[in-house]
Amino acid sequence: MTGWYERAIYPALVRLDPERAHWLALRGLSALDRLPGGQWLLRQLCDSPVDDRLAVDCLGRRFPNPLGLAAGFDKDAEAVGALLALGFGFVEVGTVTPRPQPGNPRPRLWRLPGERALVNALGFPSTGMAAVRARLAGRQFPGVVGINLGKNRETPLERAAEDYLAVLATLWDVADYLVVNVSSPNTPGLRELQARSALVELLRALGEENRRLARLHRLRPRPLLVKLAPDLDIADAGHMASDAAALEGGADGLVVANTSTDRSLLCRPLPGFPGGISGRPLRARATALTREAYRRAGGHLVIVGVGGISSAEDAIERLRAGASLVQLYTAFVYEGPGLPARILRGLLAYLEREGLRSVEQLVGVDA
Ligand SMILES: Cc1cc2nc3c(=O)[nH]c(=O)nc-3n(C[C@H](O)[C@H](O)[C@H](O)COP(=O)(O)O)c2cc1C
Repeated sequence: MTGWYERAIYPALVRLDPERAHWLALRGLSALDRLPGGQWLLRQLCDSPVDDRLAVDCLGRRFPNPLGLAAGFDKDAEAVGALLALGFGFVEVGTVTPRPQPGNPRPRLWRLPGERALVNALGFPSTGMAAVRARLAGRQFPGVVGINLGKNRETPLERAAEDYLAVLATLWDVADYLVVNVSSPNTPGLRELQARSALVELLRALGEENRRLARLHRLRPRPLLVKLAPDLDIADAGHMASDAAALEGGADGLVVANTSTDRSLLCRPLPGFPGGISGRPLRARATALTREAYRRAGGHLVIVGVGGISSAEDAIERLRAGASLVQLYTAFVYEGPGLPARILRGLLAYLEREGLRSVEQLVGVDA
């Protein structure tokens, strides 16, 4: 699978406009998702390891392995089954907004191959919560499905909670966990919701609705996580972790972190693209934030580490810094569908070498 992607598919995709390439890749995966035998075929081609030593029990679920696909790749839940068949243990769908919206004008996605990075200013293009619900309802997946919640661009910040509540209520029963995205740099004002009082208020409202729906369905509340920006001060991230942990019924975890607006992360100055940087330049900062969040709240919150992960070594580093689960996006674009299997094989080889019984034994050992 690997050689095939690198020799034939990547050189063809890289000649296309990045958004067009993404659209084509998603169309292909979505066709295989729906085709009878398509997911089986992907599983055979990728041959990703399935092994109890990789399983992670957290957020009230058994994750088949700790490697997930980060939010933004499959915004509208078009290819969840196919993506799980590549080996990901979980897929985070979204960001989903209440009403459909087109996102920002194009061009709005750029590759920086020399830095193994992407810059995006998509601004939550979404088919909306009803369409996402229709794609997920009634389906069973061999992995965990998270949903990342957002707001429509035209909803004023003072009414943002209404949007998050609407998406939460509509998608509650088709999600294994929910993520409150207050950290995308591409929706004006969104990051202001990371301010202490705004976040506490938002989490209280979402927590209440979560518990109401749990009573209604006679189930447990869905785990609720908050996705943070990597541009937060380390100390602020630590305070946010403590606050989120202290809030009764509020947050169960943190996703650390979203894309960055800090141009100094890049080796070469960027010729004026707006938007957030993802990929390798994020790695060190996202790891440092993960470590801080784990030190502050590791006993109370599950930390999902994301940003610049592209190998088994990167995943191991993030787990050791305190993440219970890891995610990636940008490396998947550069390395292709064989990447999850390669990372999981690397993880297993590491466990063997170190004589460990479970990947869970790595969490936080370097924090
Ligand atoms: C093109 C693109 C679109 C993204 N869209 C979203 C999104 O809709 N919601 C979200 O929470 N994060 C989004 N992200 C951020 C990723 O989920 C992830 O946090 C970030 O890219 C860092 O991981 P990476 O370095 O492995 O890419 C997006 C990233 C990229 C590159």
